[in-house]
Amino acid sequence: MKITVVGAGGNVGSAAALTIAQRDFANELVLVDIERKDGDKTFYPSKGRALDQWQTSPIHGFDTRVKGTVDYADTADSDICIITAGIPRKPGMSRDDLLSINANIVKTVTESLVKHSPNTIIIVVSNPLDVMTYVAWKASGLPAERVIGMAGILDTARYRAFLAEEMEVSPKDIQALILGGHGDTMVPLPRYTTVGGIPVTQLIEKDKLDAIIERTKVGGGELVGLMGTSAWFAPGAAAAQMAEAIALDQNRIFPCAAWLTGQFGINDLYVGVPVKLGKGGVKEIIEIELNADEKAMLDNSCSAVRTVFEDLERIQNS
Ligand code: NAI
Ligand code: 2OP
Repeated sequence: MKITVVGAGGNVGSAAALTIAQRDFANELVLVDIERKDGDKTFYPSKGRALDQWQTSPIHGFDTRVKGTVDYADTADSDICIITAGIPRKPGMSRDDLLSINANIVKTVTESLVKHSPNTIIIVVSNPLDVMTYVAWKASGLPAERVIGMAGILDTARYRAFLAEEMEVSPKDIQALILGGHGDTMVPLPRYTTVGGIPVTQLIEKDKLDAIIERTKVGGGELVGLMGTSAWFAPGAAAAQMAEAIALDQNRIFPCAAWLTGQFGINDLYVGVPVKLGKGGVKEIIEIELNADEKAMLDNSCSAVRTVFEDLERIQNS
């Protein structure tokens, strides 16, 4: 099992890589990033992060061989590729600028990956997530079940962590589901949230649950407010969990951004839905029953994702 992480000189990519190495389910782990110039000096963050992580192997006790590179030839025959490459929004930069720059990065990274690993499975993490997953899918030429976006595991983990804290229970016992796009229109589903098998609505007051749902929706922004940049430990761990499910053919049920062709009444959109994840990527999109309110919230979230798609099309055609 060979796994490549692109953007691994950065925060999310390196967190994903370290989690994968620590779980010890891959033989080879290749970290890719670009060179960074500073005056007359050239730095190689992917090589540095890889060397640093490899040097934790005797301490953590893993065999996964971690290597860093700037050359896609070293990624050849990767079974799974994780894309975290991108730039954060900088002062003075418009949302369109960011969208356009990250779309170009994700497109060129995907083309380089697929050139050397034509049958790989791609997990996209770069934002805006749902649209970047579409960009990677288009650039890859791969079947849609092999190009999947990571957001739902992260958003659900935040929701589960907040519930665990409020209810003073183990986060391990909380099962939950969030649908929709990766943004503040996401749709946490209390009806599909259980604590040790007990519906959460029987265990927590409605106003407390509502407050947790609202906090979850802006969970990414809360961390940006605390750190001045976006989160990486939970996003990295979430991407690694998807890679593990695929590598070990675990048939895990996770919310992931998947390409919809009529499921939930939604066509031609990457958006977060429950999927069965295992060998080959998305084995199944699980169409759960939604009541009218839940469906309306999902449709609203899909509209928000479609707006970003349309923005990208407008930018690309202008
Ligand atoms: P970062 O800035 O720490 O790392 C990004 C890395 O991408 C940098 O090391 C940069 O050199 C690299 N990069 C840029 N252009 C590249 C190219 N052409 N080829 C290879 N590498 C390239 O950013 P961070 O915090 O790691 O975030 C990465 C992305 O993940 C961002 O788009 C962020 O918004 C997104 N994100 C998504 C989440 C999700 O739930 N889907 C959660 C958290 C972050
Ligand atoms: C997050 O949710 C910003 O997408 C990033 O942390």
